[in-house]
Amino acid sequence: MSTTALTGIGLLVTHDAELGEIRDAALVIDEDRIVWIGASADVPDADDGTDLDGRCVIPGFVDSHTHVIFAGDRAPEFEARMSGQPYTAGGIHSTVAATRAASDDELTGHAAGLIAEMLAAGTTTTEIKTGYGLSTVDEQRSAQVAARLSDDVTFLGAHVVPAEYADRPDDYVALVSGPMLDACAPYCRWIDVFCDRGAFDVDQARTILAAGSARGLGLRVHANQFGHGAGVQLAVELGAASADHCTHLSDTDVEALAGSTTVATLLPGAEFSTRSPYPDARRLIDAGATVALATDCNPGSSYTSNMAFCIALAVREMNMTPAEALWAATAGGARALRRDDVGVIALGSRADLVALQATSPVHLAYRPGVPLIAATWKGGQPITA
Ligand code: NIG
Ligand code: FE
Repeated sequence: MSTTALTGIGLLVTHDAELGEIRDAALVIDEDRIVWIGASADVPDADDGTDLDGRCVIPGFVDSHTHVIFAGDRAPEFEARMSGQPYTAGGIHSTVAATRAASDDELTGHAAGLIAEMLAAGTTTTEIKTGYGLSTVDEQRSAQVAARLSDDVTFLGAHVVPAEYADRPDDYVALVSGPMLDACAPYCRWIDVFCDRGAFDVDQARTILAAGSARGLGLRVHANQFGHGAGVQLAVELGAASADHCTHLSDTDVEALAGSTTVATLLPGAEFSTRSPYPDARRLIDAGATVALATDCNPGSSYTSNMAFCIALAVREMNMTPAEALWAATAGGARALRRDDVGVIALGSRADLVALQATSPVHLAYRPGVPLIAATWKGGQPITA
């Protein structure tokens, strides 16, 4: 057992109701947990120490929505979009072909590279979805690769109907709800369905989510990205942990989210990269909904791995305050994953921490695009680039 003290923290943002924000703070890490928090002047003896010289410390980012198991990229599709082509769910098929053709080692290496990129940018918890295999064998190996990299793996066999099932989508729904789910569930904690135009309708989504729930998986829904639809209502009705995207919401949708424990996970990287209108975070927060921010990291609609970029977008384009955006990118993401050990700095929580090259977390939005992550600790271990 060895303890490490972090001292000289100019501002410690805890997101813990009792502790609040602490100036001139210190904390002590024992193995992977935080065991002491208080004033720098009162810090107890520890085996090692690091003086942070007035830097601000925040919880590590919790990216609760990513699709990092894939091969290839779609830069030409992005380039065409920036010349006026619309974004559709159909682009997913080209990534499915590249993913099926990749070896396990290639998929693992590529995903591990993205996770390393995320860690270097302060993300210490990452949910990972399958969804670019879309056959039983390719979804299962996607789930196996993801399970080596994250505790929060999501089965997204219902991303789109693959080309070979185009004229018999009900057969694909039966496959996803049966043999494919059986093959993937042992590696997964969650199941998700893309319930939107060009993907799955609400009845298909209900069938697939019910099958996942019966096997003990928690529910998540890609909902209301392309237009008004029943995805958000379905997520709330089924008690899903999150409804993700939430770009087009009716008053009824907002009320339903506000009256539920379903987190509205907003993914502004997708609106940025598809040149779409941003979701109305202000309306959701003012109504009382819980909002999370995540990257949606994927090769089609949002090829960013950077949570600070999403915070900057949320503040500038979605009328969130800097404090709301930081909460949504840490504690909000933890709520969306139903976790209470990450996203906060509290006694007993995981020592997942970020020291900023700044005295205030406002700088994350105030200095967009500037690498402000001075140091990251995951499970008490310093991350070295
Ligand atoms: O969350 N919306 C569905 N899936 C991804 C996009 C996938 C792709 O275009 O490859 C998303 O935006
Ligand atoms: Fe997504």
